[in-house]
Amino acid sequence: MSSKILFVCLGNICRSPTAHAVMRHKATQLATPIVVESAGTSASHRGQAPDPRSVSQGKAAGYSFAGIVSRPVKDSDFAEYDLILAMDNDNLQHLQRRCPPSHQHKLKLFLSFHPHFPDISEVPDPYYGGSRGFALVLQLIEQGCEALLQQLVADNQRELAQ
Ligand code: 4NP
Repeated sequence: MSSKILFVCLGNICRSPTAHAVMRHKATQLATPIVVESAGTSASHRGQAPDPRSVSQGKAAGYSFAGIVSRPVKDSDFAEYDLILAMDNDNLQHLQRRCPPSHQHKLKLFLSFHPHFPDISEVPDPYYGGSRGFALVLQLIEQGCEALLQQLVADNQRELAQ
């Protein structure tokens, strides 16, 4: 099972912390032993709590953002994590430029697990928009996390059966 997952967006204050909060909640509910973290391709919000607009949408849907603080992607993340999931193509390209060849296979678009991929391939940056953008982010992330979790559980069952 891919047990360590890193979600990556630009600032690590809107999309990837939301994925972090949603995925750890769903994994805990299913007692799935995975480690979830998040990071940003930019360091400009380092040390900040998630954006209040993400937190209010997420909390209303039952997710906790406790302990989530923005931090930039580190070079050591490429060895540390099993799956590194980018929220959009810009973030993916940033990761692809930095990642050593031996870990490139860990880099994917987060929504590559979404049932409507490739029609929906990116979680749009909500930062300069209104609350509808944040609601869409949460919806896409909930759907993506459910599909990702199903995939991880299925992979695990296949490995156990071999
Ligand atoms: P995130 O959103 O990448 O989902 O955390 C953004 C946060 C901050 C900025 C852009 C996007 N910014 O330009 O500061």
